[in-house]
Amino acid sequence: MISNLNLKLKPEKLSANLSKVVGSVTAEIFAESKRMMRNGIPVVNFAIGQPDFLPLPQILDATADYVKGGYVQYTESKGIIELRTAISEYYRVQVNPETQVVVTTGGKLGIFAAIWAVCNPGDNVIILDPSWVSYQSIVESLGCVPKFVRIGTDFSFNEDGLERLIDDRTKAVIVNSPCNPTGQIIPRQNLQKLYDFCIQHGLLLVSDEIYNEYVYPDNQFTSLAAIKNWEDNGVIVNGFSKTFAMTGYRVGYTITNELLSKEINKVMQLTASCAPIFSQYAAVTALKSIDEMRKKIQEVMFPRRHLMVKLSSELGLDLQPPQGAMYGWFMLPDSTDSAKWAAALLKEKAVSVTPGIGFGPHGESAFRICFAVPEDTIADGLTKISQFIQSFH
Ligand SMILES: Cc1ncc(COP(=O)(O)O)c(C=O)c1O
Repeated sequence: MISNLNLKLKPEKLSANLSKVVGSVTAEIFAESKRMMRNGIPVVNFAIGQPDFLPLPQILDATADYVKGGYVQYTESKGIIELRTAISEYYRVQVNPETQVVVTTGGKLGIFAAIWAVCNPGDNVIILDPSWVSYQSIVESLGCVPKFVRIGTDFSFNEDGLERLIDDRTKAVIVNSPCNPTGQIIPRQNLQKLYDFCIQHGLLLVSDEIYNEYVYPDNQFTSLAAIKNWEDNGVIVNGFSKTFAMTGYRVGYTITNELLSKEINKVMQLTASCAPIFSQYAAVTALKSIDEMRKKIQEVMFPRRHLMVKLSSELGLDLQPPQGAMYGWFMLPDSTDSAKWAAALLKEKAVSVTPGIGFGPHGESAFRICFAVPEDTIADGLTKISQFIQSFH
């Protein structure tokens, strides 16, 4: 009899692909530090990857004006043409904004859509290790397999090794420069080499350039757009979250060839429908303020990065100075279990960092801090980390 059946949903009924996606270590550390703060413990929070400053006032004003003006409907799934045009001008690329730029709901959905567009379940994607935690989850949630390639801090890779790793089910390579978590920037010649490799093997190169405006003195960023014929096998992903401190607006974008743009647009149609309209108009205002924003990044982030590098050296912390992005990537003694280490640091010193293992197998024995926080927080946190390291080992 039907009434005797236990129809309660069981874990084995859930999607195997989605079940593989474990809660990110970043989220766990963040939740624990929130719990500590609710209990009145002041936590130095280095774990969350977002700027601590607000968007420029004119962006906030424009947002309020658009909302009050009733700009609250759907837009075309690929975004308003004013924004797509402004994006192609900002990137200085010879692309057709009508057919080659898609506005996505954050850069994350842009990456998702690009991978979705080229992968069938069972295919695999090359992820440079260490890399942003979400790439692995995106690939796995689509029923595909992440293949990690250990890279040098200068993104050098062994071509033979990479060739051995790929097979006829390899569809894409994801590169992120400036890199979250290492802060390193791929030199132009290595980007060219990676793109040539993708062309040679018919792979899509996904270039996640979300930190392209965070580049520190004496370093230079090369966009995929600088590589000849880049759009044949390449897609640029970027957004407004980091450059303009607009994380909650949920506006990102992809730039690529028409064929792939059409597929990415399909993902927009069947998921978010479109990015929020007032966010898209605010993003147009943001791009008009890019010079002011660059100045702000210089004024706020350059001294923080300088302080982090200087203090780390004084305190004997093993940091490779970041060339870009907003992260410090610190090495711990070999075979340190980074998740256990970070949990102990949080418990003992109330400092929250992200364990390196969250960024791929090669991330073990390392941790990441986000230095988009006030200078006194950087000083306080690094001092506590150094004390903890001395007592831990
Ligand atoms: C490397 C990298 N790519 C993409 C994103 C996605 O940003 P958003 O979806 O907010 O545009 C992030 C956010 O943390 C990131 O670190």
